[in-house]
Amino acid sequence: MTQATRDWWRDAVIYQVYIRSFADGNGDGEGDVAGLRDRLPYLRDLGIDALWINPWYPSPLNDGGYDVADFRDIDPRFGDLAQAKALLDEAHGLGLKVLLDIVPNHSSWDHQWFKEALAAGPGSPERARYVFRDGRGSDGAEPPNNWRSVFGGPAWERVTEADGTPGQWYFHIFDVSQPDFDWENPEVKAEFLDILRFWFDLGVDGFRIDVAHGMVKDMNGPDLPYDESGLLDRPSIADHPFFDRDGVHEIYRGWREVADSYDPPKLYVAEAWVEPAARLARYLRDDELHSAFNFDYLKSSWTAADLRRSIDDSVTVLASVGAPATWVLENHDVERVVTRYGRGVTAAGAGHAGRVSGPVDVELGTHRARAAALLMLALPGGAYVYQGQELGLPEVLDLPEESLQDPVWERSGRTERGRDGCRVPLPWAVDGSSYGFGDGSAWLPQPSGWGERSVEAESGDPASMLSLYRSALRLRRSIPADEPLSWLPSSADDGDVLAFQRGPGFACVVNLGAAAVELPAHREVLLSSGPLDADGRLPADTAVWLAV
Ligand code: NOJ
Repeated sequence: MTQATRDWWRDAVIYQVYIRSFADGNGDGEGDVAGLRDRLPYLRDLGIDALWINPWYPSPLNDGGYDVADFRDIDPRFGDLAQAKALLDEAHGLGLKVLLDIVPNHSSWDHQWFKEALAAGPGSPERARYVFRDGRGSDGAEPPNNWRSVFGGPAWERVTEADGTPGQWYFHIFDVSQPDFDWENPEVKAEFLDILRFWFDLGVDGFRIDVAHGMVKDMNGPDLPYDESGLLDRPSIADHPFFDRDGVHEIYRGWREVADSYDPPKLYVAEAWVEPAARLARYLRDDELHSAFNFDYLKSSWTAADLRRSIDDSVTVLASVGAPATWVLENHDVERVVTRYGRGVTAAGAGHAGRVSGPVDVELGTHRARAAALLMLALPGGAYVYQGQELGLPEVLDLPEESLQDPVWERSGRTERGRDGCRVPLPWAVDGSSYGFGDGSAWLPQPSGWGERSVEAESGDPASMLSLYRSALRLRRSIPADEPLSWLPSSADDGDVLAFQRGPGFACVVNLGAAAVELPAHREVLLSSGPLDADGRLPADTAVWLAV
C-alpha cells in the first residue's frame, strides 16, 4: 500500500451530512439514508473526498441523535442496516469514504443499559456502567456537587428507586436524557471497542468522536466556579474534573489499535473543544487519534491578525506531533458563517455557547464567506464543509418558538434559542413543498425564499456559492499537497492582507481590509471570490488564487 492510500485523510475535504436535514427519501419530513443515497452523485460532483454522517442510531432525538439508544443499529426513521451497507458500497463506488459519529461519553436514557441501571438499584453492576452517586445532605436531597450541564441547569438528576423512594443521582454533562457512562468500568471500555469493530466490519472508514475530551472524570473533583450570567459557558480552569483529563489518552491508544488492525487502517477525528493548541496536539500523537477539528480557527474573527495567528499556531503545533492541520468554519452546533461574518462581531464563542447577537448584513457576510472558502481551501491539510455551507445558507434566526427542538432552549429557561437555525432542511429545488428536500414538508420550517439558495438555482449560476465551491474543490486538487504554507511579504503582521504561497506555482491572497490592494506578480488569476476592480486590484473582503 502506498503512503498516499494510507493517509488519504491528510488533505481530504470532508463533507458533514446532518442526516435529518440533508434529503428526505420517503416523504416523512425527515432526511434519511435513502435520500442521502440519491444525492451521492451530487457530493461526488461537488468534489469532496469523504462524508461524515451525524448520528443515525435509534434515538428519541432529544439532542438531535446524540442521545443514542442502540449503538449498533439505525433509527427506523433514517433507514436500516441493509440500506447503510448499500450506502457504503455506493459511496465507495464513487470514490467517497464514509465516517460515522460515535458518542462515547453518554447514551440516551432509552438505552437498554440505562433501563437496567435504574431497575437494578444502588451498588449493582448495572448501575456501575453509569455515574450514580448518593446525594448530599441528611436525606440525600442535594445533588452530589454543584456541577452544571453544558446545556444549562444542574448536571445531576435524581432518580426514583424501584420501591418508589427518592434515590441516587446520575451525572449528565449534557441533557438530562443523556446519562454519562463511567469510563473507569472495564465493561464500558470493552463495549465501545466492540461497537467500533461492528461498524468497521460493515465497511465504515472511520469515526468522528463526539466530545472526545470528555469520558474520563474525576468525580471527587471540587465544586466549580460558575458565572450564572454565562449559563452555557463552562468554567475554563486547569485540571477540569470532566474535560480534557489525561486518562482519556489511554482509551484512544486502545482505539487506535483497533483502527490499525484494518487494511487500510481506519480513521478517527476528534471533536475536542480544548485549548491551547498544544493540549489538542496531545490527542493526535502517533498512537492516538489521526485528526481533530480546528475550533480555534472556527472561532477566529474575520481579521487578518486573528486568522494568521490561528493558522500559524495550528500548523506549528500540529506538526510537532506529525498531524495535519484542519480547517473548519461551520458545523451543526455553531452559527452559519454567512450570518456570523455579517455581524459586527465576527468571532464565535465555544460550542453551544458560541452565539452572538446583533444585526446581520447577509450580503456582507456572503461576500466574506466566499473569500473565507478560498482561504480555507488553499491552506495545507484537511478541511470540513457542513451541508449547506456550499450553498451559502444563512442561519435561520426567526424559527417560531414552538418549532425549536434543541434542548438548550428549555434548559436555558428559554433564554438561548439553541442550534436549530443551522439545521434547517436543505433546499434542493427552487419550488416545491419543501424546496426539493422531500415530497412532503420539512421537520423544521424552511424560510420563504429558501429555494433561491437551492442546488437547482445555484447550479445554473456561475456567480453562486455552489459554483465557487465546485471550482475551488476541483482546482484544489492541483495545489501541491506536500507544499507547506509560506507567507508572502505583503502579509505583514499588522496588515490587513493574508498572502501565501504553496510551492513555487500557487498563491492565495485575501484582503481583509477596507481598501483595495495590488496583487503580487502572477501569471494568471485562477479563481476569485469576487470581481477585481477596474485597475486589477483586489477589493475588500475578497480572495484570489493565483498561478505565480
Ligand atoms: C457535540 C455535538 O456536536 C453536539 O451536537 C451534541 O449536542 C453534544 N456533543 C452532546 O453529544
